[in-house]
Order: sequence, then C-alpha cells, then structure tokens
Amino acid sequence: MPSVLKATNRIFCGKKFLCLDDQSAPDADVAAIEKRICNQIISDRCSFVCGVDAFAGVGVSAFLWARCSRTLFLVERRQNALTLLRKNLRNIRQPLCTIKIVHATAQEFLEAAVRAKLSFDFLDLDPFGDCLDLLPVASALVQSGVICFTTGEIYQVYRGLNRRGSKPTPQSYRGKGAREWVRKELLPEITAGLPGSQIVHFYAYPTSVRVIVRVGCYPIYPHWFEGRPRFLSWLA
Ligand SMILES: C[S@@+](CC[C@H](N)C(=O)[O-])C[C@H]1O[C@@H](n2cnc3c(N)ncnc32)[C@H](O)[C@@H]1O
Repeated sequence: MPSVLKATNRIFCGKKFLCLDDQSAPDADVAAIEKRICNQIISDRCSFVCGVDAFAGVGVSAFLWARCSRTLFLVERRQNALTLLRKNLRNIRQPLCTIKIVHATAQEFLEAAVRAKLSFDFLDLDPFGDCLDLLPVASALVQSGVICFTTGEIYQVYRGLNRRGSKPTPQSYRGKGAREWVRKELLPEITAGLPGSQIVHFYAYPTSVRVIVRVGCYPIYPHWFEGRPRFLSWLA
C-alpha cells in the first residue's frame, strides 16, 4: 500500500508552507526563527546572479532566496520533501527569478557543477547534521559571493562526545564551553576550508551553528547583523 505523505501547514512571511513533521518549524523554533531573520537580512540587501540552495527541504528559505537571485537551483534528495517543495513552488516563485529543482544529493549536484565549469555567487548549505566535507567543492564553485553554512556538530561537542577523526574534542568545550569551540575550532576550520573568505556573522544554538561567509570581495558586511544574538538558548 502506498504510504501517505504527512504534511503540516506552517505560516512563513504570511504564506502557508506545507512542511514535513521532521522539519524545523519556520514559525516556532528559536534557531529556525533566527535563521529566517538572518536569511531575510541577506535577501533584502543582496542580489545574486546564480544561487544554490543545496539542502532545499520544502523550500522555506528558498522563498527568500528567490527574491534576491536571478537563477536559483533548489537541490533536495528526499522524495517526500521534493513533493512538498513542488507544491510550495507557487509561494516561492518570483517574476525575476528562474527556479530549477534538482533531485540529487548536494554532493552529486555540486560535483557535477564543477565538472560543468559552473560558478555561483550564493550557496546555502543547510543539512540536518554536518557538511564540512563540502567545503572544497564549495570553494571551487564560489569565487566571489556568499556561503551560508549550517552544522549540527556542536551537539556532540556540547555533550562531550565529539570524536571527529577519532580524536575526542577537549572536555573543556563541553556544555557552555561549546561557545569557545565555535570561536577557536569551528570558525577557523571554515575559513581555512574556503580560501579568500571572511566570517560575516554566525549564531550558535546547542544543536546547530549557522555561519555566514563572504568569499572574495562580495559586498556583504558584518554591521548588517549588528544586534543579532550570537549564542542562543542554553548557550546564551
Ligand atoms: C534542515 S532541512 C533544509 C531546510 C531548508 N534549507 C530551509 O531552510 O527551508 C535539510 C534538508 O536536506 C535534505 N537532505 C539531507 N541530506 C541531503 C543531501 N545529501 N543532499 C540534498 N539534500 C539532503 C533533507 O531531506 C532535508 O529536507
């Protein structure tokens, strides 16, 4: 028997979006609300030629990216999310933006883009979990632009369980010490993985960190985010 797709309606920017139950609620969860605010700051001030939302989900962030991009690729690997993304498209579309939906993994799409010698000036990497492994391909594709990067690795650090590369993260980074891990370990690792980049803003939550990175001399500035919190919830 075919499985029934369970979707819930969530309101974002006055529009109804069909969402999956496992997707963070754009209108309720603290970290999701901060993501929307930061995304909106970017979308209101930037203008991209060609952007990629490589973990598009059901398209809530895509609604904002379509407002500031001439061409926008929405990449999603999961069939259920794709089905809802297509249904939400009527709310995402903008007259000046060409949207291309791609059913693939982020890695497949980005590697194919490198082979096709494409380049982008905007890239959103927002998985459930971590995608540090995508930094080399991101670096190859964005020479001047903005990369938004989310990682869930902090949850392991926060609990004192992180063993990436078989090396335990020092216990001093446990609990609120995770704030230091963000500044001393994560942010330098991201800038080292993206030559010619600068951290414009970040915020951290016990289960995820989102980092906004300028690559090259793209006009995006830290003062746009002045007043936004850096550490949320138990990390505050
Ligand atoms: C956090 S949600 C994305 C939310 C979306 N960026 C937004 O703000 O509206 C992560 C999405 O990535 C998808 N995903 C997970 N692994 C993926 C992969 N390797 N390639 C592409 N999509 C993936 C999941 O199915 C899920 O829909």
